[in-house]
Amino acid sequence: MNIVILAAGQGKRMHSNLPKVLHPLAGKALVSHVIDTARSLSPKKLCLVYGHGGDIVRTTLAAPDLAWALQEPQLGTGHAVQQALPHLGGEGITLVLYGDVPLIQADTLKKLLHAAQDASGALAILTVELADPSGYGRIVRNAAGNVTRIVEQKDASASQLAIREINTGIMALPTARLGEWLAALSNDNAQKEYYLTDIVGMAVAAGLPVRTAHPQHEWEVLGVNSKVQLAELERIAQRCNAEQLMEHGVRLADPARIDVRGELVCGRDVFIDVNCVFEGKVVLDEAVEIGPNCVLKNACIGAGTRLAAFSHIDDAVVGPDAVIGPFARLRPGTELGAGVHIGNFVEIKNSKIAAQSKANHLAYIGDATIGSRVNIGAGTITCNYDGANKFQTIIEDDVFIGSDTQLVAPVTVGRGATLGAGTTLTRDAPPDTLTVSRPKQLSIAGWKRPVKTKK
Ligand code: UD1
Ligand code: CA
Repeated sequence: MNIVILAAGQGKRMHSNLPKVLHPLAGKALVSHVIDTARSLSPKKLCLVYGHGGDIVRTTLAAPDLAWALQEPQLGTGHAVQQALPHLGGEGITLVLYGDVPLIQADTLKKLLHAAQDASGALAILTVELADPSGYGRIVRNAAGNVTRIVEQKDASASQLAIREINTGIMALPTARLGEWLAALSNDNAQKEYYLTDIVGMAVAAGLPVRTAHPQHEWEVLGVNSKVQLAELERIAQRCNAEQLMEHGVRLADPARIDVRGELVCGRDVFIDVNCVFEGKVVLDEAVEIGPNCVLKNACIGAGTRLAAFSHIDDAVVGPDAVIGPFARLRPGTELGAGVHIGNFVEIKNSKIAAQSKANHLAYIGDATIGSRVNIGAGTITCNYDGANKFQTIIEDDVFIGSDTQLVAPVTVGRGATLGAGTTLTRDAPPDTLTVSRPKQLSIAGWKRPVKTKK
């Protein structure tokens, strides 16, 4: 079995500099959805037909298992498949997919392939009945109910226009006959194009059986021609994703208000509140709770951890039973141990914080290694950057850091040390000692407030 993906069309109605098939759907290019589904069927050859100016398509998607056929100019779907022909073996079935029909499911394609394997030399078309078939090619059947041809909207008679069964464009064709049929196509039609659909009539004339199969869901065969349709498909894709998550035991506050732009893997009893966005690969272990409006990208969250509203996690690992947010920001390279508490307006970058440590309010921790049971007071800042280079801060176990402290890196705070509030630490603080850098407090008796001078 070969698969040919047609992706040479212009996509004018997207009004974009980005080729249509590279527009993202659920975080992945439209055509990448199709390629991944195609790969799941293990084709012998997988060929993409791309168009002039589509070099960016080719370079973006390049992979060892993809063959490329340039179609320039674009003279129709039949002409497009003809360009792929040199890449296909002479036997078996060739499955034609569209690069802008991203949600087609492998199970539906398997049904179509079965229909084509039903009789030798059979051709199988994926069709659906639509309440409004306008714009599509119509499936013409004879009195016995057998398909005789496909007629394009623009070439159809009034009675043919009334047919509601349409061609989705997805077909399984006998490869051995393809060369001869495609060579025989003419562009003598309303659009002056070489229609792939005309080979249906040829197969019928050759006495070969033409079968049809149908998708399980109508949305599988929806194409993207505009940004309105792209947004519609995005919601469908997200809805499917949400349903899968719920079927695996995730509780969603509202399945219509979650966006997964990559892969989200969840353990049992995970709860996700509204308006959360997941990008890249995110893993939520058992019983994790994600509050509303959180954004997580390439993150791993340990069992039982709670993320309160508006937390932003990027390339970070959070241990079990941690409490994060609201309004916490974990930047790349953050690793938090078990039971760590990170509160509001705390930013952490490239730092490790060990079990049971807390930074509950307004702090910046960058390039730091922090031990267990450390308490970081409100307003603490690691001064990790001198304008040219970055330096490390080390805070050992059981340290208590008073509020509004600056740790001017490189610097180490020894185990069990206490830093008084307002300290600007420029040298290492010894263990089990109070370190303060603060002028002695002064009270001046009899001091008078200035008074306004009279004119
Ligand atoms: C095609 C079908 C029509 C079907 C409809 C489903 C033909 C003649 N018609 O019509 O029966 O109902 O799809 O959406 O096949 N493409 C190329 N090169 C070309 C032309 C198209 O690669 O020269 C690609 C496009 O990028 C797209 C696909 O083929 O992915 C379909 O092209 P499109 O122009 O949308 O076909 P329709 O005229 O809508
Ligand atoms: Ca179309």
